[in-house]
Amino acid sequence: MMIPVILSGGSGTRLWPLSRGEHPKQFLPLVSDKTMVQETVLRLQGLDHLQAPIAVCNEAHRFMMAEQLREIDAQPDVIILEPVGKNTAPAVALAALAAKNYDDILLVLPADHVIENIPAFQQAVVKAEQLAEQGYLVTFGIIPTAAETGYGYIKRSAENIADAFKVAEFVEKPDAVVAETYLNSGEYYWNSGMFAFKAGRYLEELEKFSPEMLAACRLSFADAKIDVDFVRLNKDIFIQCPSDSIDYAVMEKTDKAVVIPLDADWSDVGSWSALWEVRKKDSFGNALTGDVIAIDTENSFIHAGNKLVAAIGIRDMIIIETDDAVMIAPKDRVQEVKQIVEVLKKSQ
Ligand code: GDD
Ligand code: MG
Repeated sequence: MMIPVILSGGSGTRLWPLSRGEHPKQFLPLVSDKTMVQETVLRLQGLDHLQAPIAVCNEAHRFMMAEQLREIDAQPDVIILEPVGKNTAPAVALAALAAKNYDDILLVLPADHVIENIPAFQQAVVKAEQLAEQGYLVTFGIIPTAAETGYGYIKRSAENIADAFKVAEFVEKPDAVVAETYLNSGEYYWNSGMFAFKAGRYLEELEKFSPEMLAACRLSFADAKIDVDFVRLNKDIFIQCPSDSIDYAVMEKTDKAVVIPLDADWSDVGSWSALWEVRKKDSFGNALTGDVIAIDTENSFIHAGNKLVAAIGIRDMIIIETDDAVMIAPKDRVQEVKQIVEVLKKSQ
């Protein structure tokens, strides 16, 4: 059986000012009329062997998570509440500990992705399930289309197993020059951040590479308070847990990693330009939402939250207007939006 694990602890700072600490991007209907958390669950519809999902999110987001799952009739197995974010390796460990059977396969799904080709995605999941059954730690590698620096890269080895390859190397977010060489080599995939493995296999690998992390997860989980669907970890223990991503803590180190190539129009809508890419655009390449007048404007993303926003003669720009903030940036500098959030944090 497969358990979808919905990872929803990120803060989505690069989508400021729409995505906020108390209301991060995964809980927003950014691409369709469903929120990204809801899309993550809905795109599994039709797959066999699925159990109820386990969601892992910050304590502060518990009601949003419960409510958004309820809206789409997805009854979670549990919603694990983290008092603080310790990145994805502990979050996945908690889900593994919550699995009733360590032979169950965790299908780890970040809640902030867009996947347009659902059949291709589901075919890859079926293959991943078979490989995970055999004890592999499966990653989904996206065939890269640009020298993106916001993604991790996976190098495949020549050794193939079924339709997958043994992983030769994991490189988290390389710089633009390195990313360009990876793109041209044809041997690298983008790390999608989605994984499939048996709960027990993940715990075994974590025990090998990060025993302190596993111990903190075990203790805080064993001492958790159960409150209907919510599992509240022991805060004092979990706060001590080392912080690390699953990529660094496990996938980079294990020799049981395999990568399944995935060509499914996937995108991590991590930035305004990435969101512009996946949004419907008018014949001038503009994605406009809300009350917008755009004259002689091209390839821009303009979001009017409250007011009328009018633009004349602009190209490749992002303009986001909300209740209490307006953000304007050229489309090729949107990675820097997180600097605004840092400035704001310091001034608070
Ligand atoms: N529960 C929980 N707790 N979830 C978390 C935490 C945490 O502490 N930290 C991150 N997440 C969730 C986020 O909500 C998101 O769904 C996913 O884990 C990945 O975290 P991001 O913060 O969005 O990571 P990233 O986009 O910078 O990089 C990762 O994803 C890329 C693809 O989207 C890496 O895995 C890259 O290698 C990868 O290319
Ligand atoms: Mg992300």
